[in-house]
Amino acid sequence: MPATFAERLLAWHATHGRHDLPWQVSDPYRVWLSEIMLQQTQVTTVIGYYQRFLERCPTVADLAAASHDDVMALWAGLGYYARARNLHAAAKKVMTDFGGVFPRTPEDICSLPGVGRSTAAAIAAFSYQTRAAILDGNVKRVLARWAGIDGNVASKAIETRMWALAEFLLPAAADMPAYTQGIMDLGATLCTPKKPACLTCPLNEDCVARREGRQLELPAPKPKKKIPERQTVMLLVSDHGRLLLEQRPPTGIWGGLWCLPETSTTLAAEQDFQSRFGLQIELEPSLPELVHVFTHFRLTITPQPARVLATTGVQASNTRWFTREEALAAGIPTALRKLLLLPSI
Ligand code: ADE
Repeated sequence: MPATFAERLLAWHATHGRHDLPWQVSDPYRVWLSEIMLQQTQVTTVIGYYQRFLERCPTVADLAAASHDDVMALWAGLGYYARARNLHAAAKKVMTDFGGVFPRTPEDICSLPGVGRSTAAAIAAFSYQTRAAILDGNVKRVLARWAGIDGNVASKAIETRMWALAEFLLPAAADMPAYTQGIMDLGATLCTPKKPACLTCPLNEDCVARREGRQLELPAPKPKKKIPERQTVMLLVSDHGRLLLEQRPPTGIWGGLWCLPETSTTLAAEQDFQSRFGLQIELEPSLPELVHVFTHFRLTITPQPARVLATTGVQASNTRWFTREEALAAGIPTALRKLLLLPSI
């Protein structure tokens, strides 16, 4: 009989998997701490934090009794600080609801703040050899490729199918710690998103994605989330053929770059402009909107031409008059470059 999925994974893990990680212990408190740290942080970064954390809080009781400031200080630099707040709250819950004994079943472990189904399964598998399946992003990729599962792995229907498959493939209880670590390691090191190392993969002979040459198509990419929309009015204030630009403060988008003065609407733009820049202006008809897409939002820009009627104060030190050519040669954002190159401007 050919070796099963689990047998091949276990054989691979025995020779190629990681066996020297400090949290490869059976103390559920330590396993839990490591799994929370590893949720969004790489192994090499986690090791030092993990050791320092345990020196200060060697048991769940010590963590529950620590101050919020101490816990946050131990976490400082790891990022995603909700993890530290949840960790502290979960330690207190272990003391109050579980009599100071770390819970044993995946269901009880999952009731702790910050612990989802996959993390609860990993903690139970590593600490108690419980036959509970994990399904994190790496495992989803391994299973979607091996079984040729099409469709969005974040959808409810596909997720249900993947949990069922993950459970079906589990080995006997005694092999759960090695199997769980093995499938994590396989996903992290061989079955990588862009360059899967299929030639050395222990699952290659019956992997559907490999047979069909679809490794890079599976799992199917998530449908893109709709990104938030923002609106702004950019004032094209011109005087004797020159445009007024404002240098942005050093932080934020476009920090330090020369930009057009902005207002949120055209309604009070003239008054707002006069108080900010000491110039009396008159708006002209606005130009067609322009959309600029950033990684995290979409900005709709209304270009709003205006003429200078009078100077009513001193010119702000962060403003300067530019010819179009000077502006294009200066440090200006791409959105403004697009705008200045429009034939209508
Ligand atoms: N990422 C999440 N859990 C992990 C573990 N136990 N070992 C290595 N990387 C991980």
